[in-house]
Amino acid sequence: MRVQLPDTPARADLLAARPTLWLNPDLRSGGIADPDLPVRPEQVAEASANWQHLAPLLQAVFPELRATGGHIRSDLIEATALRPALGYGGFEFGRIFVKADNALPVAGSIKARGGVYEVFMFAQDLARRNGLLSPTDDITKLAGPEARALFARHMIAVGSTGNLGLSVGIAARALGFRAAVHMSLDAKPWKVERLRKLGVEVVLHEADYTTAVEKARDEAESDPLIYFVDDERSQTLFFGYSAAAAELATQLQASGVTVDVDHPLFVYLPCGIGGAPGGVAYGLKAIFGDAVHAFFVEPVQSPCAIVHMMSGQRDLVSVYDVGLTNRTEADGMAVARMSAFVAEVMRPMLSGVFTVADDDLFRWLEKANRLQGIMLEPSATASFAGPDFIVQSPEGQRYLRERDLTDKVGYATHILWATGGSFVPADQFHDFLRRGAALNT
Ligand SMILES: Cc1ncc(COP(=O)(O)O)c(C=O)c1O
Repeated sequence: MRVQLPDTPARADLLAARPTLWLNPDLRSGGIADPDLPVRPEQVAEASANWQHLAPLLQAVFPELRATGGHIRSDLIEATALRPALGYGGFEFGRIFVKADNALPVAGSIKARGGVYEVFMFAQDLARRNGLLSPTDDITKLAGPEARALFARHMIAVGSTGNLGLSVGIAARALGFRAAVHMSLDAKPWKVERLRKLGVEVVLHEADYTTAVEKARDEAESDPLIYFVDDERSQTLFFGYSAAAAELATQLQASGVTVDVDHPLFVYLPCGIGGAPGGVAYGLKAIFGDAVHAFFVEPVQSPCAIVHMMSGQRDLVSVYDVGLTNRTEADGMAVARMSAFVAEVMRPMLSGVFTVADDDLFRWLEKANRLQGIMLEPSATASFAGPDFIVQSPEGQRYLRERDLTDKVGYATHILWATGGSFVPADQFHDFLRRGAALNT
C-alpha cells in the first residue's frame, strides 16, 4: 500500500526523513472529556489506587523497592547544567526538567510503569479467580508458595523491541510465572541475555516489531494457560503508565512549579507504539487539562504516530506505506505501525509530534552524561529537541500563537521525559558515549 499524506507544513520534511514538527489539527480544548473515547479520566486515579494496593507485594518481591515502600518512581531533575549545552540557556525557555525514568527501579525504563503493572494486576486477578486471594486478604500472599505454584502453571507472553520484554519478563519471573518474550530484530543482544539469565524464553524474530507482536498473540491464543500482554491494545498497560502523571504533579509542586493556563506545561514523550507516551499524556490531561501540552517524539525513519495521525485514515498507516524504512538506533522507538487504540484516544488531546535524527540522540546522550551525570539509551534522549521545536521553529511559534501562549512561554515548564538507560551494560554505554563525543566535537 502506498499512502498519500495530506499537504501539511511537515509533510516534505517527514517524507525526506528530516526532523520536523507536525501539529495535530484535531486537538480540542477539553478533549479528554470526549464521551466517545473508549477510556475515562477516572481510570487514571483508579490506576494510582491499584499501584498503591500492589505496593506491599512489590516491596516483598523486589528488594530495590524497600526504600520506596514498594513504589516504582523516578526523580525529576532540573536540567540546570544541561540546558545551555542544548541551546536552552535563555529565559524564553522557562524552566526545564528531566523526568528520569531511565533510572526507574525494577526495569530501568518507562516500561516498568506499564509492564510491571499489567503482570501484577493479572497475578492478582488470577489468584482471586482461583480462590487464593479475597479482596480483604493481605496482597503479599501472592509472594507465598501457594500463589507461586499457581503462577508457575501459567505463562506470560509479550512482543517487544526490548524494554517492554525486560519489564514483563522481570515482573513475571519475580512472581514465579513462566515467561516468553518475542523480540523484533531491533532488540539489543544484552536485553536478550539478561532475560535468558532470568529463565525467560526469548524468541528472536527476523522481523519487525509488529510481526513479533502478531506471532506472540497467535501463540497465546492457541493456549489458555498463556496470558498475552498486548502492547497494541492493552488498556491495563496504558493506565499503568498514566499513574506517572500524579507522581509528576507532586514533584512539580515540590519544585515550586505552578501549572495553569498562564503557566503552561510542555511534555515531550518518546513514542514507539504509543502506549507509554499515550498513557502518560492521558494521565497528565486528566490532572492539568488544557494547561498541559503533550508532544510525542519519534525517529525520522520511524514516525508511525505522525504518519497515521496525519493521514486522517481509519485504517492504520505504517511508515513503510510512505516510503520510510523504520531503521533507527533508537530500538525502543523502532515501530512501524502505532497502536490503533492509542491513536483514537490521542486524537483530540495530543498537541503534535516531532521527529529527531539518530546522530542527535547520541549527541544528547553524551551531553546528558557529561553535564548532568545521567545514563540514557538513545531512545531516551529524543525528548531533548522539544523546547527548540516549540520556542524556535515556525510551526512551534504557530502553535503558541494559535493558543495565545506567545507571551506566556517564558513562564512555561518543559519536561524532557528520559525513558530508559540505567540497565545498559557499561561497555555498550561507553560505545554510545564515544559515538556522541565524536559527534559533539
Ligand atoms: C526507552 C524507550 N522509550 C520509549 C519507548 C516507547 O514506548 P511505546 O512503545 O509504548 O510508545 C520505549 C518502548 O519500548 C522505550 O523502550
